[in-house]
Amino acid sequence: MNLIKTILILVGIVTLLVGGFCAFQAFSGRMDVSATGEHGTLSARLLQGTREAAVRRASREEATQLPDLNDQDILFEAIVGYQDMCAACHTPPGGSPTAMSRGLNPPATDLAWAGANRSPEELFWVTKHGIRMTAMPAWGPTHSDAELWPIVALITRFPDFAEADYGNLLEAAQEAGVEHHHHHDDHDHGHEHEHEHQHHHDHEDDDHHSDGHSTSRMSTTLSVSPR
Ligand code: HEC
Repeated sequence: MNLIKTILILVGIVTLLVGGFCAFQAFSGRMDVSATGEHGTLSARLLQGTREAAVRRASREEATQLPDLNDQDILFEAIVGYQDMCAACHTPPGGSPTAMSRGLNPPATDLAWAGANRSPEELFWVTKHGIRMTAMPAWGPTHSDAELWPIVALITRFPDFAEADYGNLLEAAQEAGVEHHHHHDDHDHGHEHEHEHQHHHDHEDDDHHSDGHSTSRMSTTLSVSPR
C-alpha cells in the first residue's frame, strides 16, 4: 500500500515537472515560431500524420459531386477560380514559384501531386474547410459547394497537364470573358448577407447566358491526354 502511494506521488511529481518545463519553454519566448524556422522532424511528422488522418476521416462524409469538365462553361469557371484563389500559393501545374509560395511554412502542396494521390473527397474537404494553423484558407465560408467542386475536378486533371496546358486554358477562358466573382465583400451588410449573395448570384447567371459568350467560346476543350 505504502509502496503504491510513494510510486503514485513520484509519478505525480515527475508529470508536474515535465509539464512545467514544457509550459516554461512555450511561454519563455524562446520557441522559434517564424516561417523561416524549421520544425523538428518529430513535431513535423506528428503534425503531418495528424492532418492526414483527420482529413481522411472527415472527408469520408463527403458525397462526390465531380462536375463534367467537358462542359466548357464549367472548365473555364474552374480555371479562372483556381487562378484567382489558389495559384498564388500553390502555383499552376508547371508554373514557377511565386514570392508568396516561397515564403510559406508549411509549404503549399503541389496540387498536381495531390490530384494524383488524394481522393476527390479529400481535395474537396480541404478546399472547403482549410487547414488550421497553416496558410491554407477555408473557402467554404465564402463559396458554395457548387463553386468549389469544379476547381476540385480541375485539380484531379492536373497530373495529365502538359506544361503549356494551364496557360492556354486560362487565356482561352479570359478571352471568353469569364471572371471569378467575389462574394465576400459584404462586411457591413449584416443579415442581408444570404439574400444579397443569392441575388448577386442569380444576376451573375443572367449575365452568363445573355451576353453570348457561349457562341464566342468556340471549341476550346481540355485536350490533355492521359500519360
Ligand atoms: C494563402 C495560401 C494558400 C491559398 C490561397 C490556397 N492554399 Fe491550399 N494549401 C496551402 C498550404 C500552406 C497547404 C499545406 C497545409 C499543410 O501542410 O497542412 C495547402 C494545402 C492544400 C490542400 C491539401 C493537399 C494535400 O496535402 O492533400 C489542398 C487540396 C489545397 N490546399 C487546395 C487549395 C485550393 C483548391 C485553393 C484555392 C481555392 C487553395 N488551396 C488556396 C496554402 C494555400
